[in-house]
Amino acid sequence: MNYRHIFHAGNFGDVFKHAVLVALVRAMQRKEKGFLFVDTHAGIGTYDLTSSRAERTAEYVDGIGRLWPREDLPPAVADYVEQVRAFNAEAGGPAGQVRHYPGSPMLAARLMRPQDALALSELHPDDFITLRDNFAGWRRVAIQRLDAYTALKAYLPPPQRRALVLIDPPYEDAREVDRLHAGLEAALERFPTGVYAIWYPIKRMREAIAFRERLQTLPLPAAVTAELTVRSEPADDAPAPLIGSGLALLNPPWQIEQTLTTILETLRPILAQDEAARTALVWLRERT
Ligand SMILES: C[S@@+](CC[C@H](N)C(=O)[O-])C[C@H]1O[C@@H](n2cnc3c(N)ncnc32)[C@H](O)[C@@H]1O
Repeated sequence: MNYRHIFHAGNFGDVFKHAVLVALVRAMQRKEKGFLFVDTHAGIGTYDLTSSRAERTAEYVDGIGRLWPREDLPPAVADYVEQVRAFNAEAGGPAGQVRHYPGSPMLAARLMRPQDALALSELHPDDFITLRDNFAGWRRVAIQRLDAYTALKAYLPPPQRRALVLIDPPYEDAREVDRLHAGLEAALERFPTGVYAIWYPIKRMREAIAFRERLQTLPLPAAVTAELTVRSEPADDAPAPLIGSGLALLNPPWQIEQTLTTILETLRPILAQDEAARTALVWLRERT
């Protein structure tokens, strides 16, 4: 396991994923009944952007760094940025500067109501310990050093019968997508009504299209994908860095489409690195 999220924390992929995550939590909380937030690839929960690892790549500069000073954001995006600002202030970050970045489990935990709970899994031995330490003293947060797809079996179906499941793999292993498919298929069988959010990287558009098409081979409930690319695709023979990312939402909450469109259209000009920045919203399976 080579992947460490500290090198990428707060980058444009995180910004998009976390803005949508905050919107999804809010949508789940429109109902009074509690829900379980499952984060299968939790990371460490909080990232110091001044650490040497974060500074080495400085990816956050073109991610949260661009959102941070903005005061002109629509509520759907401002909600996420305000969460980052409040977390930064509470963690003792310098006024007016982003230093402490909350990962997906921390963002969800901060929004949790008394009737909600979190179940986190992280497989990296060091990151698991850091994650556990970062949530020391938190109630209703279960943390296990489990493989993500084993965790899905362990946590689903949840006792609350309501769950938001974030699946956010590093995609470093060539077999990741195979494992994701098998895990998702099993999870849908165990708990077909869960809201699932699956993050995927975009290095070349044809790979994103293939990812979507492959998802469609699963027995999907209603499903929509939202994608944001921030720069043009490199030539075929050039190395392919990340140019964007996507989120596939299964059983998306009602009216999330409008929120996704607002998030995508707000982030595109702010995060764009060249004129090729694009957004796409594609239904893989319409609601019935
Ligand atoms: C992209 S990062 C997660 C970021 C986090 N979800 C966030 O948004 O703040 C992926 C994490 O998955 C962990 N990981 C990799 N393979 C895993 C597996 N099979 N099961 C659980 N965690 C895994 C990595 O150690 C890494 O911390």
